[in-house]
Amino acid sequence: MGPEVVKLKTNYETLEQFKRFLENGLEELSMLEDLQGNLIEDNVQSPFYGVYEDGKLVARMSLYPMAIEYDHYFNPPTNYLELWKLEVLAGYKGRGFGSKLVRFAQSFGNPVKTNVRCGAHEFFTKLGFQPVKYDPMRDRGENPYVWIPEGSHIKLI
Ligand SMILES: CC(C)(COP(=O)(O)OP(=O)(O)OC[C@H]1O[C@@H](n2cnc3c(N)ncnc32)[C@H](O)[C@@H]1OP(=O)(O)O)[C@@H](O)C(=O)NCCC(=O)NCCS
Repeated sequence: MGPEVVKLKTNYETLEQFKRFLENGLEELSMLEDLQGNLIEDNVQSPFYGVYEDGKLVARMSLYPMAIEYDHYFNPPTNYLELWKLEVLAGYKGRGFGSKLVRFAQSFGNPVKTNVRCGAHEFFTKLGFQPVKYDPMRDRGENPYVWIPEGSHIKLI
């Protein structure tokens, strides 16, 4: 079983934990600015999820619900989840934390979209994601991959 995925609290303790991910050398994946923004806005609906081991945040992601009216990926249009900033701390990779977070996103039963960078294509393909045909106007330099629940009538555009 192992540790569970939890919704991260938007507070300074979480902010301190995020600094470890910064030290990991992946500034572009940092949620620090997002979290600071949320603290300023006092946003109680944190989009951040993570896995703790022995009190230490070892993996995290953000998950944004995307409303059907903003969907440009699926036919028919649908509500889906946008997965961002997935990162597992150095020393904790290869132990199932990354796939645990992705499976958590999939457990809501809606399609999931992410922007795959950093050579993680194989990781996402193993979890049932597929690349989307690049549309420069829509994707604007992203490398979108999507997951559609098994047995769903939803197709890619
Ligand atoms: C990519 C990442 C999230 C994977 O997390 P993880 O906890 O190490 O992965 P898991 O242990 O859950 O691995 C699940 C499977 O994917 C494979 N896998 C993991 N990372 C991989 C990679 N970079 N390339 C190819 N396969 C990979 C594992 O071998 C495992 O395969 P198995 O099921 O056959 O044993 C993690 O390595 C990471 O934080 N990378 C840096 C940031 C990043 O790339 N984020 C993704 C956003 S684009």
